[in-house]
Amino acid sequence: MTTTTPVSPNEAVLTEALAGLTAHPQKTLPPWLFYDQRGSALFEQITTLPEYYLTRTERALFAAHSADILRQFLTPGAPSGLPLLAPDPFTIAELGAGTASKTGLLLHAATLLQPELLYQPIDVSPTALTTAADTLTAALPGLTVHPQLANYITEPYTLDHPSISPQGRPSQPAVRSRILALYIGSSIGNFTPDEATIILRRLRTHLQPGDALLLGTDLAPSRQKRLSTILAAYNDAAGVTAAFNLNILTRLNRELDADFRLSAFAHRVRWNAAESRIEMHLESLVPQTVHIAGHRIHFDQGDTIHTENSYKFTDAALEAQLARSGFTPTCTFHDSTRSFALTLAHTL
Ligand code: AVJ
Repeated sequence: MTTTTPVSPNEAVLTEALAGLTAHPQKTLPPWLFYDQRGSALFEQITTLPEYYLTRTERALFAAHSADILRQFLTPGAPSGLPLLAPDPFTIAELGAGTASKTGLLLHAATLLQPELLYQPIDVSPTALTTAADTLTAALPGLTVHPQLANYITEPYTLDHPSISPQGRPSQPAVRSRILALYIGSSIGNFTPDEATIILRRLRTHLQPGDALLLGTDLAPSRQKRLSTILAAYNDAAGVTAAFNLNILTRLNRELDADFRLSAFAHRVRWNAAESRIEMHLESLVPQTVHIAGHRIHFDQGDTIHTENSYKFTDAALEAQLARSGFTPTCTFHDSTRSFALTLAHTL
């Protein structure tokens, strides 16, 4: 019998939960704690809610613009509509791919340009990666999927540039393929600008000239986008987002033997204008003491646990974020109300 003591997943949960719940003046919990099995299912449900415009808006952008996105990736500045002749070979990678349901639209368009295509999804969830690989290879015969199980924030990952002969010219020498790296779904919105810079700079170290990033971001309120629309997306009428937020306490009760009473906390959503972000909190409805892993955590009535940030970008903030991270925007695809953006950015 081996005597190695693996770092149990609960250790990270315990350390981060205690650090966050004992923080002053604002108690916090990290948003990755949302995504246990029930939390992941609740998030999937959120993406189908009428109020949650983000997912369907981004999916519509892929449905409308996938061919153009690929054209601008391969030949920046090219007019749309002209056929792309013998484009450089390329491969597509994705940070936080999940089940890659929107990505399928882009991969389909990509296999029309290059029938043999490599897709490299990176995700922390083994079940999501398996679903992505099975679904996509069944739908797209020329697709090869190389899934990588990794937390792209805390763990190393690799991106391959396989050498391939240019499309339609098998006699020509193989050349290093370009990478289009996807970071979509407004996942970057969960991170402060400094954290986002670390994530994107790290991605940048894996890329070379000619490679590009496709970044999906939710946009700030504007003349065309009402703040009330954004707030509703995080406070849906059916209460799914409230259940998603409160599920973090259920998880701590189960995994750390805590005694949070769910009826003593309420889901709250705030717009932080100075930071241009939605904040989700859990507000204590009464004065109370909660026990967690041998610690006592006191709440005054009205105290909150800050559970999530979701940054909403202006064009200027987006451009600054890309520049700090070593990228320069090539073109941006918006919906008609400028609610959401897919920004293609090449390496600086
Ligand atoms: C997965 C981070 C993009 O911020 O909109 C949805 C998570 N939180 N509803 C978001 C979330 C509450 C979501 N992201």
